[in-house]
Amino acid sequence: MTDKSANTMWGGRFAAGPDAIMEAINASIGFDQRMASQDIAGSRAHAAMLGATGILGNKDVEAIREGLLTVLSEIEGGTFAFSTALEDIHMNVEARLKEIIGEPAGRLHTGRSRNDQVATDFKLWVRDQFDAAEGALLSLIAALLDQAEAGADWVMPGFTHLQTAQPVTWGHHMMAYVEMFGRDLSRVRDARVRMNESPLGAAALAGTSFPIDRDMTAQALGFERPAANSLDAVSDRDFALEFLSTASICAMHLSRFAEELVIWSSAQFRFVTLSDRFSTGSSIMPQKKNPDAAELIRAKVGRIFGANTALMMVMKGLPLAYSKDMQEDKEQVFDAADNWMLALAAMDGMVRDMTANRESLAAAAGSGFSTATDLADWLVRVLGLPFRDAHHITGALVAMAETQGCDLPDLTLEQMKSAHSGITSDVFDVLGVENSVASRTSYGGTAPTQVLAQVARWKEMLS
Ligand code: ARG
Repeated sequence: MTDKSANTMWGGRFAAGPDAIMEAINASIGFDQRMASQDIAGSRAHAAMLGATGILGNKDVEAIREGLLTVLSEIEGGTFAFSTALEDIHMNVEARLKEIIGEPAGRLHTGRSRNDQVATDFKLWVRDQFDAAEGALLSLIAALLDQAEAGADWVMPGFTHLQTAQPVTWGHHMMAYVEMFGRDLSRVRDARVRMNESPLGAAALAGTSFPIDRDMTAQALGFERPAANSLDAVSDRDFALEFLSTASICAMHLSRFAEELVIWSSAQFRFVTLSDRFSTGSSIMPQKKNPDAAELIRAKVGRIFGANTALMMVMKGLPLAYSKDMQEDKEQVFDAADNWMLALAAMDGMVRDMTANRESLAAAAGSGFSTATDLADWLVRVLGLPFRDAHHITGALVAMAETQGCDLPDLTLEQMKSAHSGITSDVFDVLGVENSVASRTSYGGTAPTQVLAQVARWKEMLS
């Protein structure tokens, strides 16, 4: 006689129910209830297929269909009582279906296992997140394009080693992030295509002897095709890993941008003003306006990378096919997805609201000898000097300006001539930052004409 406390779904061979600790480590209902609607969609597709193939009678299929809709409305209405004893969303739904429709509920699991069921549910959930990420990235890219177009010719310092290097334009800097988030977008789209195969019907691991129609369920759930190997179908979590690695790379981009916003919004830089809507104050220092959203984006990256690493560790070394280890996939992906979407939305809001301070950008663009390369290039172009010599002469002029506490354009022609007698007053034309950026017209360069061409190319591509 089976103990009454044994699991009603699989307790046939059990004489006793699980220890409380066993139940606690085993249950996933605390988190996999987030896949309730995907679980019910999968069951509805499966039941309809069982009817269409004659594996189940129409009366049973109809009862299951209606019952599942009732369960769904209970879950959506918040009246569903989730049970830890029933382990996971799959058995919670089926047990409730049994309470509502009785015996036909027991026929739903024909030709199916929780192994293909959970893989299907989770894929549907992750696929929705890929779609959400696509939308969020498109919106962020659009916001960056607006910033780039407005400030295509606003000069600012470009940095290497965070030391002033050469003047660039605000638009060019914004467009660098468009390229990054554009690659993220293409990774999202690419991974979504690859993952869109249905595990449903792989059953426990070997397929089934029932004459199921896997094309039918695949189509009903919006998959391109059924997964071709049942062992792989139930043990594959590549789609979750691709989601996490795509999220990780994008989060890395977000954190680099966030870091720049933190620096740029400081009193020392004043490159941007973040809106009140995306800043916070200090409870003790009245003057403070803190870039908390940027800081949190910078930090949230850690948990996204962590989720990617954690799931890689779960999957490495697992023999085929399903192992319960794989239940650990969901919390990582849920948390990473929530925080990725939040970080994308917060960055989107900050970019839309932020104001670039043109005067501060321009003032900084001209300091730090940012046009030294332009001077060296002039010596090569006009005087025909070898670049190495030009570099050396320019270096001497930079040292001279530094000693005098001035910038390169502030040196007199006489002082310039002391470094090389051939220098003429024409040289001052290239020492201005506006001319410097305007001259960088090579493809992908910082010249406003190039920036606007890239803005147009992206708008065209996204339309
Ligand atoms: N809750 C399980 C999971 O998330 C469902 C699959 C359980 N399968 C099994 N054979 N115990 O992975």
